[in-house]
Amino acid sequence: MTPQNAPQSSGLPAKRGGSGSRIAVIPGDGIGQEVIPEACKALSAAAAAGNRRIEFVHFDWGADKFLKEGISLPLGAEEILRDEFDAILLGALGDPRLPSNKHAADILLGLRFKLDLYVNARPVELFDARFTPLRDRTERDIRFIVFRENTEGLYVGMGGIFKKGTADEIAVQEDINTRKGVERIIRYAFEYARRRFLKHVCMSDKSNALNFAHDLWQRVFAEVRREYPEIESRHLYIDTLSMEMVRDPRQFDVIVTCNLFGDIISDLGAQLAGGLGLAPSGNINPESTSLFEPVHGSAPNIAGKGIANPIGSVLAAAMMLENFGWERESAVMEAAVRAALRENQVTADLGGSLGTRTAGDWLANFIAKQRLSEAGK
Ligand SMILES: NC(=O)c1ccc[n+]([C@@H]2O[C@H](COP(=O)([O-])OP(=O)(O)OC[C@H]3O[C@@H](n4cnc5c(N)ncnc54)[C@H](O)[C@@H]3O)[C@@H](O)[C@H]2O)c1
Repeated sequence: MTPQNAPQSSGLPAKRGGSGSRIAVIPGDGIGQEVIPEACKALSAAAAAGNRRIEFVHFDWGADKFLKEGISLPLGAEEILRDEFDAILLGALGDPRLPSNKHAADILLGLRFKLDLYVNARPVELFDARFTPLRDRTERDIRFIVFRENTEGLYVGMGGIFKKGTADEIAVQEDINTRKGVERIIRYAFEYARRRFLKHVCMSDKSNALNFAHDLWQRVFAEVRREYPEIESRHLYIDTLSMEMVRDPRQFDVIVTCNLFGDIISDLGAQLAGGLGLAPSGNINPESTSLFEPVHGSAPNIAGKGIANPIGSVLAAAMMLENFGWERESAVMEAAVRAALRENQVTADLGGSLGTRTAGDWLANFIAKQRLSEAGK
């Protein structure tokens, strides 16, 4: 993904690298099982074009396994993923047969917490002006990245319910913000901007109302921004940011925010750039194995119909290659997506007539035709 002014080199620290990579594949539930095979096809084509080796190992973690065996994330899973794999490619988790969503929380939140995937990187890039719901906006206007804190906040599952089901019921959900957690995500956002020569970093919180938790964000932001004098940094309250993203998205290069707000505004961003079917994300631990996934969920309303858009997963896989430092292979995957959008070789959510598999075939064929003579060296 290439937010504006992006030079050739990646803003993300390279993971391991070398000429080969081992990838853990977790298709998960619903359309995850349909779109992830397409992302694997595109990855294989990109690796072959660049003369790289890529190995996939599939894991059947998800609703079916949980219903049959009562196992969500098997014991020791995180050690295996951390020690034996270069990256993880995940589809989506969520199944109407499991309304508690426990298996999904165990697997997805479990991996985010246990592998300390503290950066949730969600690029928002409009590839084709036809796909934004905003009037008169072009590809140049919508190009930014959201860094969502991914291991703290309201998602850690601390709290409880008292007197459940009675008129006196009380529900408490704790918002956890640590000095270390806030500092490392804010610093990551500034480092990303510095590496890519991006001009603006915006930190967003709700410190006017959340006067303890987000006071910490304010103080850390004030300290860290001083180390990056070449970057114009500013703060917006999350309500103002949401409004400004719609009113004038051109003003943003890098946005950094907490777990909950990042979750919400990255979906808003996804819509600005053409919808959930197109949006990728990376769950990154700069020093260890990272996880890449489309932003969308398991979409039970279209699961099994073969119409899900595979592009979010293909772009997530491209982010993975960028994370390895495989710049050319990543770029060719992105080029394939741009070409598919241009030539309307897309699924129904984008106005096309292809099914998931034919859309994936088109992308893989496009990639296979490219020559990356210098790659892999
Ligand atoms: N990271 C994840 O695993 C993740 C993320 C979000 C939601 N979920 C889970 O997924 C389940 C469904 O959630 P939801 O319906 O709120 O969100 P969703 O993203 O699954 O679907 C929202 C809407 O977008 C459409 N859509 C999503 N992806 C698409 C694609 N690739 N192509 C075409 N259309 C697409 C769906 O058909 C639906 O109309 C729930 O169980 C939820 O908890 C999981």
